[in-house]
Amino acid sequence: MLDTLGQLIQEMLRHTFVNPQSPQTRAVSNLFWVGGTVATIILAIPTIVLLYTITHFRHKPDQQGEPHQVYGFRSLEIAWTVIPTIIVLVIFVLSIHTQGLAEPNTDPGPSGRSDLTVIGHQWWWELRYPSGVVSANEIHIPVRTRWLVSLKSADVVHGFWVPQVGNQMYLIPGQTNHIWLEADKPGVYEGQCAEFCGAQHAWMLLRVIAQPQAAFDAWQHGQSRAAPRPTGQAGAAPPPSTGTGNTIARLRQPATGSTASLVAGGAQLFQQLPCQSCHAIAGTRANADIGPDLTHLASRATLAAGRLDNTPANLKDWLRDPQEYKEGSHMPNLLLTSNQIDALTAYLESLK
Ligand code: CUA
Repeated sequence: MLDTLGQLIQEMLRHTFVNPQSPQTRAVSNLFWVGGTVATIILAIPTIVLLYTITHFRHKPDQQGEPHQVYGFRSLEIAWTVIPTIIVLVIFVLSIHTQGLAEPNTDPGPSGRSDLTVIGHQWWWELRYPSGVVSANEIHIPVRTRWLVSLKSADVVHGFWVPQVGNQMYLIPGQTNHIWLEADKPGVYEGQCAEFCGAQHAWMLLRVIAQPQAAFDAWQHGQSRAAPRPTGQAGAAPPPSTGTGNTIARLRQPATGSTASLVAGGAQLFQQLPCQSCHAIAGTRANADIGPDLTHLASRATLAAGRLDNTPANLKDWLRDPQEYKEGSHMPNLLLTSNQIDALTAYLESLK
């Protein structure tokens, strides 16, 4: 029972600042524990004295008049002035020290080079790497490498916060803020927009995926390629049914044709429908940045800033009506037909 409770608490705290996984978040976490301990002691001392006083000096039935009054206890007055002053000064110095460890101390300026630019949007995260790679919502970084990250906003104030590996910082329209991002160990670290930014603030999740340098390089290389051109013929006739195959498998076969032709059809639809006026897919005409870049959508684990796992079934549901999953999202319900949804899903899921 206690083991289970312990595990439950551990699991709840796993992605919080009490489990820091970078030098910068560890500095903030340490300050929290020092401040928390001091505050607990400050709360405990008067509480204990008060309880003792209430029980030992309460009015007794045989007592007459006021108890003996004490005035002008100078040494006590000096003590309760000097001790808090020292505590405040120590915490002030520790805070300045922590700031030095946790935050970039020099502003690289507008032309300064950062290792990643994160742009907050209602309600997703745009990620721009100096290599030219553009992605969304899932930040890949090499492990044990301190990255300088620029934070900007496309609309309202957002809050970057991946408690284990990236301290909290505002993303403000018209201004660039900076943080350090670093992870001690490979892993997936979960974060969340930390400033109320509208209807879907709660579904503005982000993750940091820390990888060994070689794995990061491979990821970045893959992401820097343009989207593959579909090889099939759009709108090709469905494959002839031989009648010998598994019925269920055949029913699952989309009605409009083979996978390759479905993908080609989806690629064509993407350019004809309003999709391309908001999204970009490198290597095609679509190059808007109102919505997330979809060049390598299929390589991401989630859809809609963590709202859904990235599976073909979820992508279809999302395309059917984004408002059902994220009410107020800037992606409207395009009233797509099932055939259009099947083709677009096949195409988007081919963008590895
Ligand atoms: Cu973005 Cu809250």
